[in-house]
Amino acid sequence: RTVYLNGEFVPLDQARVPVMDRGFLFADGIYEVSAVLDGKLVDNAAHLARLDRSLGEIGIANPHDAAAWERLQADLVARNGLVEGLVYMQVTRGVMERDFGFPPAGTPTTVVMFTQAKKIVANPLAESGARVITVEDLRWKRRDIKSVALLAQVLAKQQAVEAGVAEAWMVEDGAVTEGSSSTAFIVTRDRTLITRPLSTALLPGITRASVLRLAGEADLRVEERLFTVAEALEAQEAFYTSASSFVMPVVEIDGTRLGDGVPGPLSRRLRALYLEVAR
Ligand code: PDD
Repeated sequence: RTVYLNGEFVPLDQARVPVMDRGFLFADGIYEVSAVLDGKLVDNAAHLARLDRSLGEIGIANPHDAAAWERLQADLVARNGLVEGLVYMQVTRGVMERDFGFPPAGTPTTVVMFTQAKKIVANPLAESGARVITVEDLRWKRRDIKSVALLAQVLAKQQAVEAGVAEAWMVEDGAVTEGSSSTAFIVTRDRTLITRPLSTALLPGITRASVLRLAGEADLRVEERLFTVAEALEAQEAFYTSASSFVMPVVEIDGTRLGDGVPGPLSRRLRALYLEVAR
């Protein structure tokens, strides 16, 4: 596997990042994940715009403009012969002797990119539907920044793994914020699609934005508002979205089956519509 590290394409087992990298010591960095379908990047302009914004919010200069990023991504995809999967990008504040304040101006960032092959379209989970559990949201107050500080999400996902389910929905003050690595949606009996409004409390999902644009085509009304776990348990349908899962129907929350316990027609319709625009 070939990865990208600071201007060079190198074999994965030869790519090395220094111990004093601030990403390693402080999680002082930003990441992005774009999907690849049929060898082409999906919704990539929006992912690169969010990368630029995340970097700006924590005061790291973006090392590349969008066109340069996209050339590197396409090069990496081609070198790895990736047909379907993910491109991961990470930028950290670089290397310096451990100290909390920023490094001196001009310190180079550390830039890493790699690909992961993954069946996103023909994912058996999308056929059976995913089960989720709810967990407490333990994160910080700037979840709109796609920071590599992911400990709370790691602990949330591990609870899901140990419960034998696909995803953990994080809950704060009784309301679902988002999944450990996805955006949460419910559909009510009167064809209303509900998802949390954007704020600093959650990541502005790129797949979320596309799905909201497609809702009208599935005859769904959209309400961007908080929803509680109790509401989710009463929902007609539910699903979650991300670059790595697209639209994933949810069939069970905390052991309670939704509807018939199979992926609902509206979730499936939105998944199909998203696949059309992704291609
Ligand atoms: N995660 N919310 C959180 C907390 C996420 O980590 C992600 C994505 C999303 C969905 O965003 P998008 O639709 O832009 O992928 C929402 C990526 C896939 C990851 O960490 O691997």
